[in-house]
Amino acid sequence: MHYKTPKDFPGNFLWGASTSAYQIEGAWNEGGKGMSVIDAMDHPEGTAGFTVASDHYHRYQEDIRLFSELGLKAYRFSIAWTRIFPNGTGEANEEGLAFYDRLIDELIANGIEPLVTMYHFDLPYALDEQGGWLNRQTVDAFTLYAKTLFQRYGHKVNYWITINEQNTLILHPGAVGIPKGGTLPTKKELYQQNHNMMVAQGRVMALCKELSPHAQIGPALNMTSMYQATSKPEDAIAAHNWETLRGYSFLDLAVHGRYNPLLWSYLEERDWLPRIEADDFDVMQKGRPDFIAMNYYSTATIAESTGSAQDVSPRAGDQQIMLGEIGVYRPEENPYVDKTKYGWVIDPVGLRLTLRKIYERYALPIVITENGIGAPDELTEDGKVHDDYRVQFLRSHIEQIQLAITDGVNVFGYCPWAAMDVVSTHQGYGKRYGFIYVDRGEFDLKGMDRIKKDSYYWYQRLISTNGKDI
Ligand code: BG6
Repeated sequence: MHYKTPKDFPGNFLWGASTSAYQIEGAWNEGGKGMSVIDAMDHPEGTAGFTVASDHYHRYQEDIRLFSELGLKAYRFSIAWTRIFPNGTGEANEEGLAFYDRLIDELIANGIEPLVTMYHFDLPYALDEQGGWLNRQTVDAFTLYAKTLFQRYGHKVNYWITINEQNTLILHPGAVGIPKGGTLPTKKELYQQNHNMMVAQGRVMALCKELSPHAQIGPALNMTSMYQATSKPEDAIAAHNWETLRGYSFLDLAVHGRYNPLLWSYLEERDWLPRIEADDFDVMQKGRPDFIAMNYYSTATIAESTGSAQDVSPRAGDQQIMLGEIGVYRPEENPYVDKTKYGWVIDPVGLRLTLRKIYERYALPIVITENGIGAPDELTEDGKVHDDYRVQFLRSHIEQIQLAITDGVNVFGYCPWAAMDVVSTHQGYGKRYGFIYVDRGEFDLKGMDRIKKDSYYWYQRLISTNGKDI
């Protein structure tokens, strides 16, 4: 659809940026914090761990000043569950609670709306040792944790995000990592974890209505569209298979509290159906989201499964994420799109398409909580970071968001990844995403100075003109 004049961004559009606790904070064992699965993990060789990260725990005031100067209207960050409950449950840690009081107050004082993720991959290790999400007690622990957050911060937080990228956790557990000496769960276990997490999320969404009725709450999933490799009908089925199993089946459970029929058949045939307790569907159906938070990076192109091991291959440049599944789908190259230096497909139009599909299907407002380009940014001799590729990436995606809004999609915010450089989930510190460069090496921490990249100034102008000066 071509338009003569795309619509303007709404006046109250939340121009923001994102991070997560374990990737930015550091201070992994300070302030009474307990160990999370991330702290207990082996890191891929040659990459930094998360112990210091961007040292935001100690420098959050300086960082928020920079966010404020950037003009951010919103900041999406996560609370480390283990700062609040070092053992995952039991007694809350006042020092941890006080840290997020200070962080949230500082944001509000700077006119920045906090978008708070409760759980971004960093499950308390103490819970993991007792079976993690396989154990129904983790559902109770998450409910207690969320209740504590609502009670403490409910009066100042208007947007809550429950769980970050549950679909990544379930489909690619190796991408987030597993604690040292551990093994990857079986598929059956993963779908049981998925079910338990959905029940926990349902409980927490209902609790939000009770304890913090002014606030809005929603899940954050990594959503994308799948293109069929050719016009062969079997390729279309394969693309639909993967689009459903990878994305919509998770949102169907989160939004409607019901299993997508294709997912159900897929699980049933493999004997991977989860154990479901009597009131689980009731809980999931009562706890409905107010919005959908969507992380979008790229699209994929899909062909019919060959029925052999050839279907399965690692994602380009990334041995930890295997794509393809025998009998379900096979990944194909897309000749029409570029890729980042890390092999991720760059597809701004795919963002418009995905926004349309999600809005049509669920009719809920959408906030984009991640989108960005990982690159080995360089601090040049002039003391600057010339990340024109990032400006190009973000500009092209924002243009497509504007078109999606013109298409009629209700998008109320854009929080690209990341507000500043953070440690990549599994590819170290060298893979950077931020508007602000943090001067540290993979292992050499240097001074950790904060340096505004070229993209910082560009985004600052864009925000100040509400998206007009793109
Ligand atoms: C998202 C995660 O999947 O992708 C973030 O929510 C992550 O935590 C981001 O950092 C980018 O991925 P990566 O592996 O390049 O850091």
